[in-house]
Amino acid sequence: MEISLAPELEAAVRVVGEPYEGVYLVGGTVRDILLGRPNFDVDIAVEGDGIEFAHVLAAELGGSCLPHGQFGTAVVLYGEGQHVDVVTARRERYASPGALPTVEPATIKEDLFRRDFTINAMAVWLKADDRGRLVDPFDGRTDLEAAAIRVLHDQSFIDDPTRIFRAVRYENRYGFCIDEHTEALARACIEAGHVGDLSGARVRDELTLLLEEADAARSIERLGELGLDKAIHPRLAADEDAATLFARLRELDAGYELDVPSWRLGLAALARHLAPDEASDWLARLKLRRRDAQHVASAIAVGPHLVEQLRGDPSPAEIVSVAEPDYPDAPLFALGLADLAPLHAYFGSLRDVRLDIDGSDLAELGLEESPRVGEVLAELRRRKLNGELDGRESELAAARELMEQ
Ligand code: CTP
Repeated sequence: MEISLAPELEAAVRVVGEPYEGVYLVGGTVRDILLGRPNFDVDIAVEGDGIEFAHVLAAELGGSCLPHGQFGTAVVLYGEGQHVDVVTARRERYASPGALPTVEPATIKEDLFRRDFTINAMAVWLKADDRGRLVDPFDGRTDLEAAAIRVLHDQSFIDDPTRIFRAVRYENRYGFCIDEHTEALARACIEAGHVGDLSGARVRDELTLLLEEADAARSIERLGELGLDKAIHPRLAADEDAATLFARLRELDAGYELDVPSWRLGLAALARHLAPDEASDWLARLKLRRRDAQHVASAIAVGPHLVEQLRGDPSPAEIVSVAEPDYPDAPLFALGLADLAPLHAYFGSLRDVRLDIDGSDLAELGLEESPRVGEVLAELRRRKLNGELDGRESELAAARELMEQ
């Protein structure tokens, strides 16, 4: 197989050889090279001491090596923020479903056997004579050509139920299909309750990755079909409505350039039937950063109220006063639920309306620092939103008038 080597791989190739014979490119990069898709991750597996190899590679690249002795892995950092992940080829033993495995050094074939799907269980030799030779003991290449996602053994999902989320992600990304037997194993794993054994943080990581993919709305329906939604939380709803809502939220987010992460929109769409307390508990279990959890919770709890409050013909100042406190997720979620003109006005222009004067102008007019400053500014903004003020001079005149009252 022809592999064009990035500079870091050229360096890896230079240091391969005695005593580092078994050095391989592994994982998703191999899959993506075969598919002709860009992938900038470089994962290297070493038969022998991966950490020692990583130190040598770091020296060759003029970078540094961050080893994790416990796992036999290392990250080589170099250049301007680039990195290479190095692992010691290993076999894994899972003490219980969903737990992290214990590991022992092993051959590349055993290392590939611990992996999730045949399409991810291929390696490419980096050693000079064999450079570019594909190591494919489980027929991953055939499955790539057949667009099939297949586990390597029947215990795979029990060992690591996050692999079910990964399968859905690959189906969506590559337009592949989970093979029939593999899907039956996934369903059995879900029915046996193993997804419930996963920590909240692992579920969060999988959902986040899945919801960030380009066409993730389809994955939402697939989660529902497999029953993964209810396995995570009995009141999550990964149905057609959730998928439609999520697609619409993404579109609005892009259209109004809000930059809300897709996964936040997706979590809100999935959890839209949860009562506010349930949503907060669930989000706490996922161990999201506090700010992210607050945004998702406010979308679910406040979004539907905004729809009710903004029906009819509210003034611009009224729109801003209800939409702004929970900006941006709750008003965006509300707009996803109902195509209301006031919310389009809010995101289209009202959210950017600012006064031309500020507290220092009020100080110059003689208003000393006090809560009154905030009140006057709020009243001026209200008037400006409603079209009663136009420019700095009229704002100053109105400020003077308010200060006299
Ligand atoms: N892997 C696994 N089981 C998991 C996670 C990862 O077997 N639960 C293996 C797979 O062989 C995978 C490799 O570890 O290819 C690297 O993992 P990751 O970087 O998450 O996956 P990629 O294949 O690089 O996929 P993506 O392109 O989505 O990042």
